[in-house]
Amino acid sequence: MNYYYITGTSRGIGKGFADYLLKNSNNRVIGISRQQSINNNNYKHINLDLTNAEAISNFKFDFHPDAKKIYLINNAGSLGFIKPVGKLDASTIIKNYTLNLIAPSVLSNTFIDFYNTIDAEKVIVNISSGAGKAPVDGWAVYCASKAGVDMFSRVLDEEQKIRMQQSDKKIDIGFKIFSIAPGIVDTEMQNDIRKASKNNFSRLENFIAFKANNELLDPAIVSEKYFKILEDVINIKEVVFSLKDYK
Ligand SMILES: NC(=O)c1ccc[n+]([C@@H]2O[C@H](COP(=O)([O-])OP(=O)(O)OC[C@H]3O[C@@H](n4cnc5c(N)ncnc54)[C@H](OP(=O)(O)O)[C@@H]3O)[C@@H](O)[C@H]2O)c1
Repeated sequence: MNYYYITGTSRGIGKGFADYLLKNSNNRVIGISRQQSINNNNYKHINLDLTNAEAISNFKFDFHPDAKKIYLINNAGSLGFIKPVGKLDASTIIKNYTLNLIAPSVLSNTFIDFYNTIDAEKVIVNISSGAGKAPVDGWAVYCASKAGVDMFSRVLDEEQKIRMQQSDKKIDIGFKIFSIAPGIVDTEMQNDIRKASKNNFSRLENFIAFKANNELLDPAIVSEKYFKILEDVINIKEVVFSLKDYK
């Protein structure tokens, strides 16, 4: 059996991931978000607010003795308010970092600790963004948290490589870590971007045009592409990359 813990399954890309995986009866999806929108016998929902640091700290993974694959997909994320620094309120900044950076970090730590000795394909996929590589005005916390997720992933990968060099267990693959940006996808998040105030966001018209020109990607197609790439995890050399790097 394959087990996929996915944050943010109630809509958008995370729901696309769950819908894609649940077509295969060997897959079990454990979804984590504040709302639930999936009803399937192979789906379990956990209601959790990932801006709540205490709830994240107390999160426990289950033991899956029959697991061939165990994945943690840190997908839940939000732009928070689109405003320049100086106009943000402190609690929004703190909640946004908690959701976008602290939750993936804490869940990854618990995941690696808990499944450390399990013989299965163990993978962490962080849903990254081009915003972690280039600055976008009005998105300071979002850009910084995605850049943080990229670097966190690179360090985890480095640690796993060191672990594998020291391991005498030739079949032990350790954990594989990726931070993969999806491109611009037609979700609620893009809807929120288009609602930003022009005074607070210089690129508003570009994002309105992406939608008007049908340039947004379908979450179902994006999800399929993620899992096609992840079919061969052992041979993926990059840690941080974008879906558009793959044809
Ligand atoms: N759409 C794009 O163009 C795009 C581009 C680059 C990267 N991304 C990344 O892709 C990921 C998914 O984005 P999306 O576009 O699918 O966004 P979305 O449609 O807004 O969905 C966000 C998901 O995150 C969950 N979430 C938000 N706040 C949460 C909280 N406090 N606690 C628990 N779950 C929470 C939501 O569930 P609840 O509201 O039910 O809690 C929802 O399921 C994000 O990490 C985003 O940064 C998206």
